[in-house]
Amino acid sequence: MLVPSAWKGNTNIMTMGWHMVLEFSPSLVACCISNSNHSFEMIRRSRECVINLPTTDLVNEVIGIGNCSGAEVDKFEAFGLTPAPATNVSAPLIKECYANFECRLTNASLISKYDLFIWEVVKAHVASSPKYPKTVHYRGQGVFMISGPSISLRKQLKPENL
Ligand SMILES: Cc1cc2nc3c(=O)[nH]c(=O)nc-3n(C[C@H](O)[C@H](O)[C@H](O)COP(=O)(O)O)c2cc1C
Repeated sequence: MLVPSAWKGNTNIMTMGWHMVLEFSPSLVACCISNSNHSFEMIRRSRECVINLPTTDLVNEVIGIGNCSGAEVDKFEAFGLTPAPATNVSAPLIKECYANFECRLTNASLISKYDLFIWEVVKAHVASSPKYPKTVHYRGQGVFMISGPSISLRKQLKPENL
């Protein structure tokens, strides 16, 4: 994931592999943002960010953005990405990404101990096509997974699990 932030007139982007869904309604997600990152204070202070889902064509940007610091580099400029205004937060969307999730901090209690931010997704933007994009996900140790074929087993699921 690519995570832009905005604070005091500056914007930044970091790469983020450690994230999970916590709740559907309201839509809650958690992610780990190390306090050694330049993004940490921007995000902690603004209490906002955007989580952007990249496709495989952006994998070099994903790595490059994760290999440098916003303290030294304007990453939108350096990586040729387009910031677009969000609807509900001050952090920008990344136009080139397949989906953009505008997030507001909903619980700060685990930040100081675990660098763990708990977000409510207040607005989601998702491209209408393709239906199943080739998105890229970090497995760790320098290995990435590209989303593959899908199977629908809707009829076998209890309605409350859909
Ligand atoms: C593939 C990849 C995944 C990463 N995942 C995370 C993560 O989940 N949490 C984190 O704090 N840093 C993660 N990083 C490291 C940050 O992206 C990196 O430290 C970056 O330089 C931070 O940018 P900033 O200092 O401008 O905030 C990851 C880096 C890469 C390349």
